[in-house]
Amino acid sequence: MFLSLRSCKASACAVKESLLSFMATKSRFQAIRGTRDLLPPETALWNRVEETAREVFCTFGFGEIRPPIFEPTELFARAVGGDTDIVSKEMYTFEDRDESSTSLRPEATASVCRAYIEHGMQQLPLPVKLYYIGPMFRRERPQKGRYRQFYQIGAEVLGGSDAPAIDAEVIEMVMTFFDRLQLPGAQLEINSIGHNADNCRRGYVTQLKSALEKVKDKLGADSQRRIETNPLRVLDSKLEHEQPIIATLPKIADHLCDECKTHYAAVKHQLEMRGVLYRENWRLVRGLDYYMRTTFEITAAGLGSQNAVCGGGRYDGLVELLGGPPTKGIGFAIGEDRLILSLQEAGKVPTVAGRDVYIAWMGEHAHATAIRAAKTLRSAGISVELPPTEQKFGKALERASKLNSRYALILGDNEVAEGSWTLKTLADGTQQKVTEPELLEFLKRHRD
Ligand code: HAM
Repeated sequence: MFLSLRSCKASACAVKESLLSFMATKSRFQAIRGTRDLLPPETALWNRVEETAREVFCTFGFGEIRPPIFEPTELFARAVGGDTDIVSKEMYTFEDRDESSTSLRPEATASVCRAYIEHGMQQLPLPVKLYYIGPMFRRERPQKGRYRQFYQIGAEVLGGSDAPAIDAEVIEMVMTFFDRLQLPGAQLEINSIGHNADNCRRGYVTQLKSALEKVKDKLGADSQRRIETNPLRVLDSKLEHEQPIIATLPKIADHLCDECKTHYAAVKHQLEMRGVLYRENWRLVRGLDYYMRTTFEITAAGLGSQNAVCGGGRYDGLVELLGGPPTKGIGFAIGEDRLILSLQEAGKVPTVAGRDVYIAWMGEHAHATAIRAAKTLRSAGISVELPPTEQKFGKALERASKLNSRYALILGDNEVAEGSWTLKTLADGTQQKVTEPELLEFLKRHRD
């Protein structure tokens, strides 16, 4: 009790101090580095992308899951891997009041698996197919296409089999989504990293490690460290001088066991049956520990160095690792920020949303009529701008144009008394007289 009271007082003092220094410097608040505000009209593009994802994923039988954005730190440590950059360097972690360690989610696959176990979803008709859309948090160095709060659109298939058709269908779904959005230059790369049993990945990693030891002196500090912590990640290096060295390292394809080899060949065949074009990339190992067998990434145009717009793969052991029953799993996550950037670079920018009708009203009676008209039109799905205070008609028409309105409805007390209103088409300046019912009919008929 004493401790918590003291820490409360301490934190109250800290808040007061920072407030005082803030007022003294008169600085203005700004979004924290690596975070940003998404504003109209750009948010219209975000909404269109998300609606398209929902539509496409629904046609493949996926339902939406909305897990919390913070979870026990241990969940991510165990699922993603304690030695990964994501867990060891990039998580936003805090001690909660009950002193349990909590982290903002850096990704959502771990949460979906936790939810699968918690809700006994293995009792549902299998496989369970779930998708999610939402913010993730990683303390990375911000740059174009890389943020500390970013958004993912992801999907997971849990509790099915390891049938290669499942891998291929998941990939087909994300490619269908990108096609629907006309994402420029979408390029799919695939690989198989085998499974974690003897003579497959473990055997390969041992060989890779000893090959790396021999060239250790020629590698940079990061790769040298990874020889110990996660040798597979050396294959991911983008450093120019390491490329010719990496090209000589043993390749996993030559070390896959027969089962993994057959699985990989069947995934490729299944992709071909679906008309999905792919490129094989033996260096595609991914930065999270839970993967086995199929891994894939999709890049897109216009993104510079951060051009991976989607990453995914199979993770058959993960649910069990988190305390659940043996469960097959596969999924992907799309970086929505990068997807939007690529669409914008390709010129797919939404125009500023205008209004259908601007009501230019003058006078007490006209105001009451304008409020009623706005309500009727809006309930018919027509967008209406109703100025809160009276404006001269000239000013009102100016503002109607600025807001990109299609029509101005001119309502003075005379119009209201006569029951005959004036509707002006702003594009050509023509005017017509309409009664209240005629107005609604006209606008419905002339909808885009
Ligand atoms: P990931 O490769 O870490 O995989 O992230 C997926 C995608 O999220 C990346 O390809 C990228 O587009 C985007 N992304 C990652 N970090 C950032 C960032 N700092 N700023 C902007 N975008 C970013 C996963 O998260 C796995 N959970 C995917 C998965 C689902 N695997 C199986 N199921």
